[in-house]
Amino acid sequence: MQKKRVRLTLLINLFVYCCFSGIAYSQTQTIPLETKHHALVLQVSDQQDVRISYLGRRLNRVAEYKSIPDTYKQSTDYTGLLNSAYTPSGSRNLMEPAISVTHADGNQSLDLRYVSHEIQQLEDGISLLKIALKDPVYPFEVTLFYKAYFKDDVVEQWSEIKHDERGAVTLHKFASANLHLKASAYWLRQYYGDWAREMQPEEEKLTHGIKVLDSKLGTRANLFQPPVFMVSLDRPATEHEGEVLLGSLQWSGNFRTDLELDPQNNLRIISGINNYASDYSLEKGEVFTTPVFMYTFSAQGKGLASRNLHNWARDYKLLDGHGQRLTLLNNWEATYFDFNEEKLKALLKDTKKLGVDLFLLDDGWFANKYPRNGDTAGLGDWEENRSKLPNGIGTLVKEASANGVKFGIWIEPEMVNPKSELYETHPDWVIKQPKRDEYYFRNQLVLDLSNPDVQDFVFGVVDDLFTENPDLAYIKWDCNAVIYNAYSAHLDNQSHLYIEYVRGLYKVLERVRAKYPTVPMMLCSGGGGRVDYAALQYFTEYWPSDNTDPMERIFIQWENSYFYPAIASANHVTDWGKQPIKFRTDVAMMGKLGFDIVIDHLNDNDLAFCQQAVKTYNGIKGTIWHGDQYRLTHPRENSVASMLFVDKAKEKGVLFNYLVNNRYDEGSHLPIKLDGLDPERNYRISEINLYPGTSSPIAGEQVYSGDFLMKIGFNPQVRKARESVILQLEAE
Ligand code: GLA
Repeated sequence: MQKKRVRLTLLINLFVYCCFSGIAYSQTQTIPLETKHHALVLQVSDQQDVRISYLGRRLNRVAEYKSIPDTYKQSTDYTGLLNSAYTPSGSRNLMEPAISVTHADGNQSLDLRYVSHEIQQLEDGISLLKIALKDPVYPFEVTLFYKAYFKDDVVEQWSEIKHDERGAVTLHKFASANLHLKASAYWLRQYYGDWAREMQPEEEKLTHGIKVLDSKLGTRANLFQPPVFMVSLDRPATEHEGEVLLGSLQWSGNFRTDLELDPQNNLRIISGINNYASDYSLEKGEVFTTPVFMYTFSAQGKGLASRNLHNWARDYKLLDGHGQRLTLLNNWEATYFDFNEEKLKALLKDTKKLGVDLFLLDDGWFANKYPRNGDTAGLGDWEENRSKLPNGIGTLVKEASANGVKFGIWIEPEMVNPKSELYETHPDWVIKQPKRDEYYFRNQLVLDLSNPDVQDFVFGVVDDLFTENPDLAYIKWDCNAVIYNAYSAHLDNQSHLYIEYVRGLYKVLERVRAKYPTVPMMLCSGGGGRVDYAALQYFTEYWPSDNTDPMERIFIQWENSYFYPAIASANHVTDWGKQPIKFRTDVAMMGKLGFDIVIDHLNDNDLAFCQQAVKTYNGIKGTIWHGDQYRLTHPRENSVASMLFVDKAKEKGVLFNYLVNNRYDEGSHLPIKLDGLDPERNYRISEINLYPGTSSPIAGEQVYSGDFLMKIGFNPQVRKARESVILQLEAE
């Protein structure tokens, strides 16, 4: 009796499904999505479940993908959903779901079956696979999107969720991606951190259960953990060897990535917006589009994976990825809040003297009723402080032009100090609990960007600056607080706040870029608290950390370099750290160079060195920004860290080397094997960026073939007396 009823229900469901979808069941089919070296293969079962049957190296014969599942003799999958391409919850599934819902009628079950799919060629080298799924019982649909970037082996994934039920459906979980990997073991490289300690790596073998990487901070979401991670298959990948997937969610708010080793010993990766405190009430007809999850897969180690990501980022994501960047002098650590027009005018002269492109005026230039003379007041009141700047920003912008340099400015428009006119006028614009004590992060609160009036205000901060100062050439956009006491006076549905905040932020950034498409902007967040590829579509660079101690920066920039290209890394020479100015400058050159020091305090040699370093940098920056990056010797595993940049034509290279171990007699005892060169060409090697009065044991006459340099290597002669060495390679 029981059995009969189940079968009947199934038949009815099948009937409802067929009528509802208007599409007949098709036979089992295999849907491969190939890039240059990688394939993601989806398979539609005879039950119309869409599964991932393979993620790995591309096969020569497309027809053979369908044979892959039969080669695995793993334990039984009772559910048929362990490798679901988008795991629903409340029906057959027993694992972590990608999506879970409460239907309009209160029922919590969801099943998603294949309806149809199509592959579109979007532009040369980019294809988009769309797979439509539908619940056989409820009018509830999900479309999965897979955008494949052929030459870079990158795939972007997201989903669209909608329904036609009689009332709102609550989405409890709504992932962007649901991947499935098969290997003998999985090694996760993840990152943790805090202010000034960003991007600390940890690598471990995944065991059964779920490892969750997430953020619940709302804004400045990466403070403790960024969304980027790597998974190596079988064994930890090295720079050159091993199968590895580098992934991240493109979302500047709460994220969550579940890595679940399932009973069959396969790895399920589910990534999306963090559903923490974020039940989403989806109205009939409304489409919920998840953010994009992206990954790249390499069978030749992390080096190739990261170079693929860099190329992809410069081609498609990072704003002005193939453009130029401005070197700069920043006044933050030189003055903090203590400056006036006269001091700034002197700094404009210093900018010129140093030879950089732009002067960047940092925090402290605004607010009058509650002047911004420290971080306790003024945030939100974006008019020039009259006692510090009686003639306004305009005078400084003009003065900069007169000195032949450009002018940029710091803002933190998403934030407010309680001691501000903005807070007094618009307490309802502030994220805070109406009945609880306020709780501050850096003495400030976050504005409610879910509110369109606040969006207008934040856009207005940028727009007014540009309208009043059309020659303004640069913006540093900061974000120093997390969200405490999440509550919006604007929203009816409080569990939408974390999501609507980020959507509001992107709306503002869209407007900024529609009106000011090219002006360079730095993405900063109390150090490196906000960097991801959704935000980088609006920014030309990011600030990896307030920690500019060059020894620390070698490590922070190193880990970031797996995911983001050097052109996006804003690196400033400051007074942090005990190393000499040459060491500090060399490290800052491995990205976009800036200075944040008192030029006036430099002795003659230090000043001459910095001036020459800017000129040297101008000669090599093209290779660093637009070339290929090779991590040769890792600072955590070696006494000498070596990083190489080679231009695309393989004609020029820049090799940075640092002593990262202070023990007796440490140094480059062995040659460093280079990479990415043309084996047939000869390269002349010379040391550059020498400190005045020093000479190099590496004469400019040393010429080696690319073959020699890659197989035997070159010794930069790094030792205590030569802690930092930059070498230039020029093909003959
Ligand atoms: C943050 C930034 C710094 C600086 C200060 C100004 O901490 O990361 O670079 O701009 O704010 O208050």
